[in-house]
Amino acid sequence: MEFSIKSGSPNKQRSACVVVGIFESRKLSLPAELIDNASAGYISNILRCGDMDGRIGSTLTLYNVPGTLCDRVLLVGLGKEKDYREAEFCKAIRASIQTLNGLEVNEAVLFLTESSVKQRFGPDSVWRIRQATLIAQEVVYCFDCHKSGNDESRRRTPGRKLDKLTFAVERRNELAVAEAALAQGKAIAEGVTFACDLGNQPANVCTPDYLAATAQRMAAELKLECEVLGRKEMEKLGMHALLAVAKGSRQEPHFIVLRYQGGKAFDAPLVLIGKGVTFDSGGISLKPAAKMDEMKYDMCGAAAVLGTLQATVRMALPINLVVLIPASENLPGGAATRPGDIVTSLSGQSIEILNTDAEGRLLLCDALTYAERLKPDAVIDIATLTGACVVALGHLASGLFANNNALAKELLQAGEIAQDRIWRLPLWDEYGEGLKSNFADMANVGEREGGAITAASFLSRFAGNYPWAHLDIAGTAWKSGKHKSATGRPVALLCHHILHRVKQLKIS
Ligand code: BES
Ligand code: MN
Ligand code: ZN
Repeated sequence: MEFSIKSGSPNKQRSACVVVGIFESRKLSLPAELIDNASAGYISNILRCGDMDGRIGSTLTLYNVPGTLCDRVLLVGLGKEKDYREAEFCKAIRASIQTLNGLEVNEAVLFLTESSVKQRFGPDSVWRIRQATLIAQEVVYCFDCHKSGNDESRRRTPGRKLDKLTFAVERRNELAVAEAALAQGKAIAEGVTFACDLGNQPANVCTPDYLAATAQRMAAELKLECEVLGRKEMEKLGMHALLAVAKGSRQEPHFIVLRYQGGKAFDAPLVLIGKGVTFDSGGISLKPAAKMDEMKYDMCGAAAVLGTLQATVRMALPINLVVLIPASENLPGGAATRPGDIVTSLSGQSIEILNTDAEGRLLLCDALTYAERLKPDAVIDIATLTGACVVALGHLASGLFANNNALAKELLQAGEIAQDRIWRLPLWDEYGEGLKSNFADMANVGEREGGAITAASFLSRFAGNYPWAHLDIAGTAWKSGKHKSATGRPVALLCHHILHRVKQLKIS
């Protein structure tokens, strides 16, 4: 998708489609009013007929509107003006792009970005442009690289492809700021798309080797340092928790380290850790067959940290960022780890593996210990860690756990601003009691209830002496059902958090 910024009157746009907003009930936004004036009341006449009342997300396409230079005018409902906030803006943008995507247009000018939104964080055209870019990219996203046939037969919606969007700003003096916002929005949207593409790849394509090769390709393209450890190097280091997960697979596990030095040489880095289980069958503690295909998404944490890294570098943000990806498959086999096996983690703590399906924490615990040697400013791990988190929060919010209130608060607010929301769950010591083992320092599972917290509690024993947050994205990293696809979450949240860290995003 190509994006651009423009200032000008809606009635003077030579375009296939001009998009303007209507408030409930039948109240014209300023750009709609300009078209109405130029067309001698054409729009208000139509509204009087009752075909469109401005309900949030409703749309009406008009053709040959007098006094305009465009082929179509798309009216989009914005809901009640007094309730027009962040979420409503996003809904209206989504409805516009969805409608445009189904029309025979390849290009359009959106005026919804002009009208201000009642925002908790201040009215902000930068936010509107960034968000509109992210939503547009998401709506047109389609993973069809494994479908045969020509481009046209692969298309979900027949017709011409929407491939160019222009966002309007009210005044010429806003253009420069809007262009900068667009550049940010594009970088983040490409990071999200990157994460979706990687997540959607089947597990016979996206293996630990493939993740490593992808990291190396990214490093070459973006001039980053990249190090990939194999089984031998990990054995030497003592990453036996990670290695235990890989034992049943023919695929070699990897520990991937990527470094971006955008900050000063001695600035402590932000470390992002992404769970990279390229397929989670459960191992000897085998999962049931239903929906097991979705366990190809068990590397979405890894995809998210790579997407975030790419966006950060493309925005050239002044920060030192290190990405760590423990990558493995979790399969049963003659050499696989058995329930009851005991291993020693990189931290020196021993673990009794009572359930081989609780493999994410085994991979992550060694990465958390490894992170300590980077002397990090903060560490955030991102993982499709527990089904219990999906039970707790559903598919709207990712789970947040943290040993540091300031970091937790910053992440919560970044999630709100990015509309990529998270919700904090407790990490009290007592939650770790279920992890007691008769034979090792701890077991890898506790009781079933509160499983997302038990898992986080397990991880907290490996988080070193640094501010640490854990995001459980099991319910948000992909959608199931007819529209099964990776979502790219939480790339937008992480990018906004990084923008905040480098003081390019105001958080109240
Ligand atoms: N990758 C899964 C978590 C998961 C399951 C994410 C379903 C999304 C949907 C993880 O490795 C896992 O299997 N967790 C177990 C832990 C249990 C054995 C303590 C789970 O949640 O069932
Ligand atoms: Mn598992
Ligand atoms: Zn898993």
